[in-house]
Amino acid sequence: MSNQACSLQAPVRHLFGPGPSPVHPRVYEAMRQPIVGHLDPFFFQVNEEIRGLLNLCFGTSNDFTMVISGTGSAGMETAVVNFIEPGSKVCIFANGYFSDRLTEMATRQRAQVVRLEKPWGEVFTDAEAEQFIAREKPAAVAFVQAETSTGAYQPGHGIACAAHAHGALVIMDCVTSLGGMPVDVDAAGIDIAYSGTQKALGCPPGLAPITVSPLALDWLRQRKTTPASWYLDLKLLLDYYESAHRYHHTAPISMFYALREALEIVKEEGLEARFARHKSNHEAFVAGLASLGLQMHVAPEHRLWTLNTPRVPEGSIDLEIRKRLMAGYSIEIAGGFGPLAGKVLRIGTMGYGSSAENVNLLLKALKSALA
Ligand SMILES: Cc1ncc(COP(=O)(O)O)c(C=O)c1O
Repeated sequence: MSNQACSLQAPVRHLFGPGPSPVHPRVYEAMRQPIVGHLDPFFFQVNEEIRGLLNLCFGTSNDFTMVISGTGSAGMETAVVNFIEPGSKVCIFANGYFSDRLTEMATRQRAQVVRLEKPWGEVFTDAEAEQFIAREKPAAVAFVQAETSTGAYQPGHGIACAAHAHGALVIMDCVTSLGGMPVDVDAAGIDIAYSGTQKALGCPPGLAPITVSPLALDWLRQRKTTPASWYLDLKLLLDYYESAHRYHHTAPISMFYALREALEIVKEEGLEARFARHKSNHEAFVAGLASLGLQMHVAPEHRLWTLNTPRVPEGSIDLEIRKRLMAGYSIEIAGGFGPLAGKVLRIGTMGYGSSAENVNLLLKALKSALA
């Protein structure tokens, strides 16, 4: 065996795109810990700690909170394959790329998909939600709380209230809000919420936290048909993670260590303090963008604190701005896509990356890239 130092040297980037976001040094340290087997009591202890800490971030007291081995899309697919049955009707609130992905997944499950559309960057009012759900009477509704393709925040309360009044389960994507903004699963009445590790939690990509309400769990237990995916079947996963600890798959142990540490950091900081940090850095960034002459795409009251979408200024080309930021400062940001292609920049101020120092760095770099 070779005793040489690691031969791989990755470049150091400032990750200010829509994710992955910068990883906290303590999380890197956790990933260097020796791995144990996927049936080792230590692993299950780490997993139990994760479940408790995740409930804090989700804002829930659900018993059923767990982690899917896979990225945020695996969380999305878990929600869809377990809670949307073939032939059943699902209402999707469509105002961005990730609600389109939900549509695609539900369609592949052969659900009857109905969409309420809004321009990218806008959100739905409670009255629109109520009308849509009352008219369609679906078995489930799905929406994206933090739409990373547009920078808009859709509060869940109105949608969930209307859905429950008409007996539908509520699925919410909180990939870009978890750990950076209020997710409020219990207060809003969300039945299934899923997320990813690589955004406001300050962890690498690779796991998808998910939480399920007692109501949805009852529904799942009574479900007669078998979900089309074996890997994402929550009933099988429960057997592995809960008391039976029956082998299901080989969990990515180092990622569990990473998430456990990232969540411990959230707890130490305190959720309210963490939200306040994200909000104030977002506001400082938006003020700085305004002084550079950049306008925001989303109305102030609907903006994410984690992901900012300034419009590309007249006469500038987004790709050129991004190239200059990378060449001059090793800064990664992203452009818009779909209807927002070439029209907005997508700039993340999230997790470990949300700091006054990074806001200053970003503004200085943008000023010179736009010059
Ligand atoms: C809102 C939202 N949902 C789902 C996903 C999919 O997550 P992943 O790329 O980790 O599979 C993303 C990724 O950016 C996202 O922003």
